[in-house]
Amino acid sequence: MEENQIPAHIGFIMDGNGRWAKKRGMPRNFGHSKGAEVFKKTINWCRELGVKCATFYAFSTENWRRPPDEVEGIMNLLRRYIKDIRAAAKENIRIIILGDIAPLAEDIRLELIDIMDSSKDNTEFIVGIALNYGGRDEITRAAKILAKKAEAHEIDPEHICEGSIEQLLYTSEMPPLDLVIRPSGEQRLSNFLIWQAAYAEFVFMDVLWPDFTKNDLRSAVTEYSQRNRRFGGI
Ligand code: IPE
Ligand code: IPE
Ligand code: MG
Repeated sequence: MEENQIPAHIGFIMDGNGRWAKKRGMPRNFGHSKGAEVFKKTINWCRELGVKCATFYAFSTENWRRPPDEVEGIMNLLRRYIKDIRAAAKENIRIIILGDIAPLAEDIRLELIDIMDSSKDNTEFIVGIALNYGGRDEITRAAKILAKKAEAHEIDPEHICEGSIEQLLYTSEMPPLDLVIRPSGEQRLSNFLIWQAAYAEFVFMDVLWPDFTKNDLRSAVTEYSQRNRRFGGI
């Protein structure tokens, strides 16, 4: 595959953990735990393929609707994976957390801020982790910041353009989103990177996230490479 046929930035909607566990008669959190292992492996598969950046949807602004024990299980899993995320940051990988981390427990929040800060000059690969992330929330925040600046006469509302919003999104330092992969059979964005996905390609797959393999990634990227992206042109 030629370089421009490899997506620079892939978004992964890591879905299907609960169903995967249920099929095995196990608690849903067992599925999340398996899913987290696949998350770790997928980072390396992306790097091997020459992808520059991968963003993983780990917890949405809507996922708080789940039973407290499931939410707690996911947060504890995050605590366990912080070590691995730190290790990745040592391999010249930059970590960017997308989402409002303010409501997360203090220990998790401080670790994440530190990992983001200490990895910000890393250049080999970018891992985005969407945590308490919602695309609508992201755009609403940008709107609020711009409104405050306009109120303070720091900007002229007439000069607000797409770029003004883009600069305020969590992805401002990432390459444009080329491909969104959603396993689990669902065919929707569920509030993931809704602005950024305006011209992304989508590959929906029937595999459940804990069963997602390197071959699945390869086949999604192959499908991407055969798409004709026109961006409104001809
Ligand atoms: C995705 O798997 C993980 C999170 C949303 C945290 P799900 O938990 O949504 O799995 P299904 O969709 O119920 O199978
Ligand atoms: C999207 O999956 C969120 C994550 C994968 C973190 P959901 O399972 O929450 O999405 P819906 O509810 O099926 O749309
Ligand atoms: Mg789901």
